[in-house]
Amino acid sequence: MSTVAPVRLTGYAHGGGCACKIPPGELEQIVQGLVTATSPDLLVGLDDGDDAAVVRIDDHEALVSTADFFTPVVDDAYDWGRIAAANALSDVYAMGGRPVVAVNLVGWPRDVLPMELLREVLRGGLDVSRLAGCHVGGGHSIDDPEPKYGMAVTGLVDPERLLRNDAAVAGLPISLTKPLGVGVLNNRHKSTGEVFPQAVASMVALNADAGRAAVDGGARAATDVTGFGLLGHLFKMARASGVSATIDAAAVPYLDGARDALRDGFVSGGTRRNLDWVRPHLASTAFEAELLLLADAQTSGGLLVVGEVPGAPVVGETTARGDAVITVR
Ligand code: CO
Ligand code: CO
Repeated sequence: MSTVAPVRLTGYAHGGGCACKIPPGELEQIVQGLVTATSPDLLVGLDDGDDAAVVRIDDHEALVSTADFFTPVVDDAYDWGRIAAANALSDVYAMGGRPVVAVNLVGWPRDVLPMELLREVLRGGLDVSRLAGCHVGGGHSIDDPEPKYGMAVTGLVDPERLLRNDAAVAGLPISLTKPLGVGVLNNRHKSTGEVFPQAVASMVALNADAGRAAVDGGARAATDVTGFGLLGHLFKMARASGVSATIDAAAVPYLDGARDALRDGFVSGGTRRNLDWVRPHLASTAFEAELLLLADAQTSGGLLVVGEVPGAPVVGETTARGDAVITVR
């Protein structure tokens, strides 16, 4: 048990979780033209906004490298640590890989928040990494007015069985391995202090089994659903692959309480930006509220897989590229 006086960690965050990402369109402008000559051994680089970089070691093995960190998404320090670690590890699973070693990335307002709380954050990260079978080395920490935590993760993948952003083909089902809705629930939690155990359980869950099942099922294209929401990440994958995608809104699962949180107005600016970004490429007959839920900025969301994943609902299908990149029906 912790002896630290209760602190509402989310009160120290200007944004929340992956919703504090730099907006997708802005980021693309920043990195445009920065990619010049690359080696063929860099299997996945900056070009298609994939979840991680992948470098070939030999014919059978490639290195996966990724980093992810963010401000507190929940008030509980241990849970925040677990969520941030599961989220950082997820980008390795989203490439079809397995994590091997991680290092911590920490920003901490050491004059404002007790160091015992940071210890709880790190303990959460360690516990999740242990579940993932991933070693944790040291890391890097700085004094920072806003608390931040995450990890840089290195993993391995079979280069022949990579899950990429640009490898989707038309005519396949699209599977989603976690329900949506953590964005609106985290937003409500930050505003009111209400705790949503179903959201925490979803965010700390590893995408390890989902990634393995996707690879074993022969999938070639996948990504994880994080700050850009289902619509944003699906748009990136479809655009990079030169296909279109149709989402069957009624088939998309949501966490309990997500629709209530949306109805009560707990929508982050990040979620609205996601929808604005995708809208020029979107054909839809759905209500605006439904589209906002589909664009809800997730933290440590599930895998969006082009193909079937046992146990995961099929939420749509890929089609030949049409006028709209994404259709919601
Ligand atoms: Co990702
Ligand atoms: Co990421």
